[in-house]
Amino acid sequence: MIRTAETTEFDVVVIGGGPGGYATALYGAAAGLRVAVVERDKVGGTCLHRGCVPAKEFLETASVVRTVASAKEFGVQAGQPVVDFAVSQGRKQKVVDQLFKGLAGLMKGRGIVTFNGVGTLLPGRRVRIDPAPGAGEGATQPLEITGRNVVLATGSVPRTIPGFDVEGRVVMTSDEVLALDTLPASVAVIGGGAIGCEFASMFSDLGSQVTVLEALPSLLTGCDNDVVGVVARSFRKRGINVHNGVTVHGHSPNGAGTTVSFGDGESVTVDAVVVSVGRRPLTEGLLAEGTNVTLDERGFVIVDEYQRSAAEGVWAVGDVVNTPQLAHVGFAEGILAIKAMLGEAALPVDYSRVPWAIYCHPEVAFAGLTEAQAKEAGLDVVVKKDPFGGNSRARIVGETEGLVKVIAERLPDGRAGRIVGVHMVGPWVTEQLGQGYMAVNWEATPEEIGQFIQPHPTLSEAFGETVLALTGRGLHVG
Ligand code: NAI
Repeated sequence: MIRTAETTEFDVVVIGGGPGGYATALYGAAAGLRVAVVERDKVGGTCLHRGCVPAKEFLETASVVRTVASAKEFGVQAGQPVVDFAVSQGRKQKVVDQLFKGLAGLMKGRGIVTFNGVGTLLPGRRVRIDPAPGAGEGATQPLEITGRNVVLATGSVPRTIPGFDVEGRVVMTSDEVLALDTLPASVAVIGGGAIGCEFASMFSDLGSQVTVLEALPSLLTGCDNDVVGVVARSFRKRGINVHNGVTVHGHSPNGAGTTVSFGDGESVTVDAVVVSVGRRPLTEGLLAEGTNVTLDERGFVIVDEYQRSAAEGVWAVGDVVNTPQLAHVGFAEGILAIKAMLGEAALPVDYSRVPWAIYCHPEVAFAGLTEAQAKEAGLDVVVKKDPFGGNSRARIVGETEGLVKVIAERLPDGRAGRIVGVHMVGPWVTEQLGQGYMAVNWEATPEEIGQFIQPHPTLSEAFGETVLALTGRGLHVG
């Protein structure tokens, strides 16, 4: 139901309560602004309800399965793990519900007024709020509110491909996978990007037979080649069938499942198909006539480096703009927009150095240029790698797959200068990237970072060792 507010005039009206929108709202409110959020579903958005959080929760179930399966090696008799996915689904929902409650409470506590309804931007920074679909009898009439600033943060939805109508039973996107109660025995994942690799890894660890169909020559395009190599080898070892460079032609349903045809007359018969070929911005119905906001040919809101759209006082953040579709990038853009509104000194987001974290097994995390990108940019580089196989903590936990790779610019005297890229694949690297992210964004040199002590035994020593090797005097890495 749309809440009737005491006031309809705000400093900031945010349309969309996902990470981009709620970060804008929380930061704006913390800065003393009077903020409203218009959300058609639940605050938290895709990330909390249909994306990052539930996906990582299921990937944690997969990790528990791997741990139990390897318990014998540690002298612990636990038997073969058996997955009850309905219980996993229940746990996931509990985690999501707790986080949702926390977020809603935090927003309320900051004095942010949340309107439950569908927002449409009208000229003059007015926002019309219509009852959300399915709001039922009690829904009030449309309401109009005004912002000195309006922030568009409506996010994105999964893209689909012709011939694959998503009906949620056999053909799914991430939205439907994350609501499953039972596991399909076999799955074809179309698209081997971040979502495709996370789901392929999860389904495989939970016992499904997985086939990945990727149009480009490799999985995880955009990641460093050494990192992709480790993930591809791990997938192969675990029996995931990866077909790169293939065109998917269509599918023919057959009773319970379907047969997907691809490549040169090849096909695979599966219980379920997951389409993970990217996400598109959600702007349908967002803009009334005459707002002056401009969209690009793919529907993204066009903004400048401070998140300003073409319309005075209208800003856009998160997946609705054409920047990396990551929750934490949405957070950064929201903070930037508020600072710019307040006329404070603010640094635009440097998209070439944002942190990336992909939670397939083995995990991937990186910031900055890949070796190939650095070379394409004409940089002469020095590269060092440390495989986790030589790391004591990795041996202790029994996860030795993976490596840390650090790329630095070569100085005229041959020594390694500023660090331009840090790439990690292996155990808990999403939690280890912090130092690498800082090194890249601080334009630190190996000499500077090499001063820092890494606790022993930890996985983070692999980063320290790699950096030390770049100074020319590695302890374990040459
Ligand atoms: P993506 O753009 O990362 O990957 C899509 C993949 O599908 C690409 O490799 C593309 O070549 C392939 N593809 C496209 N059309 C195809 C076709 N017809 N047949 C076969 N392959 C095809 O998109 P994804 O994985 O759906 O993720 C969407 C967004 O969400 C991305 O921007 C991603 O970065 C972000 N995301 C990030 C995560 C993370 O960082 N942990 C997790 C999940 C999503």
